[in-house]
Amino acid sequence: GKQSRDDGSQGISSKTDAIFDKDKEDQEKSIVPVVSEWKLNRTLSLNLRRNILRFLDAERDISVVKGNLKPGDTIHYIFDRGSTMNISKSLYQLIPKQSPLKGQHFQKCAIVGNSGVLLNSGCGKEIDTHEFVIRCNLAPVQEFASDVGIRTNLVTMNPSVVQRAFEDLANDTWKDRLLQRLQNLNGSILWIPAFMAKGGEQRVELVNSLILKHQINVQTAYPSLRLLYAVRGYWLTNKVPIKRPSTGLLMYTLATRFCDEIHLYGFWPFLQDQKGNSVKYHYYDSLRYEFDSQSSPHAMPLEFQALQRLHQQGALKLNIGDCV
Ligand code: CTP
Repeated sequence: GKQSRDDGSQGISSKTDAIFDKDKEDQEKSIVPVVSEWKLNRTLSLNLRRNILRFLDAERDISVVKGNLKPGDTIHYIFDRGSTMNISKSLYQLIPKQSPLKGQHFQKCAIVGNSGVLLNSGCGKEIDTHEFVIRCNLAPVQEFASDVGIRTNLVTMNPSVVQRAFEDLANDTWKDRLLQRLQNLNGSILWIPAFMAKGGEQRVELVNSLILKHQINVQTAYPSLRLLYAVRGYWLTNKVPIKRPSTGLLMYTLATRFCDEIHLYGFWPFLQDQKGNSVKYHYYDSLRYEFDSQSSPHAMPLEFQALQRLHQQGALKLNIGDCV
């Protein structure tokens, strides 16, 4: 039968992308992107796409589809294998029939991370010029439009967002806020990692019933079980030892499949900017975060170094400073 390994590599030999060579790593220890004249390296971008495709196919893995599941099916959480959840009727209703990315291809994509480095950047207009804009964790845009833009083609939402940003819909005010945020999405893809970690089931259910009840115009997507392992497998093979890829890195890895040129904004997992001014963890709230803490599931500074190397090689563009 068909077998796939846990790391998603499907037994393919671990040929690494040349840009991740150790020598280069040593030369580029500083965390400040030094390249001012950035130019897209098409050959390298195509190579990355091809190598990532050995681990995952974003078109397929971006979401489970109806054909493969039915209501009542049991799913083992990716990070808590001992715990399970069931595919509820409402979840099943919202699982797409086919991949929302089917046949999609874009020249320029923007991925917007949530770092406070975006505040006063004036990058909104520039971000909105991209053909396809990806955002994370249902971050607010209206109030920050001049710095982050408005355009949203895909937005992620960890189940924990329902708690962190909407008080688990404790009363009508919070419900209305979430409703408003979802209505503003206007047909974009809403990507909810429902099968990653236990504890989110009820929150996903809350959001799903809101979407159904108010017939909100979004294309819901629920990433497949193998996505996480596959993404981690790709980066591990390329000597970026991440325990659990952050949403931002996941989005970049997926985007290589359907975007020719990828620009990142709001990726800055540090407490200070390049001039030494303090930077908020999120541009929109007062959450504090220790980027290197042992308790955090992510290693964002490590991911950042990898992204920075890719920037220097012209595979992606990291925008850190202000836009003019
Ligand atoms: N990010 C960053 N620097 C920050 C904050 C966020 O580089 N100061 C990037 C990360 O790649 C992160 C993404 O932007 O995954 C979205 O940010 P956020 O919503 O804060 O993600 P988290 O909730 O912290 O983590 P998760 O990846 O689990 O969603």
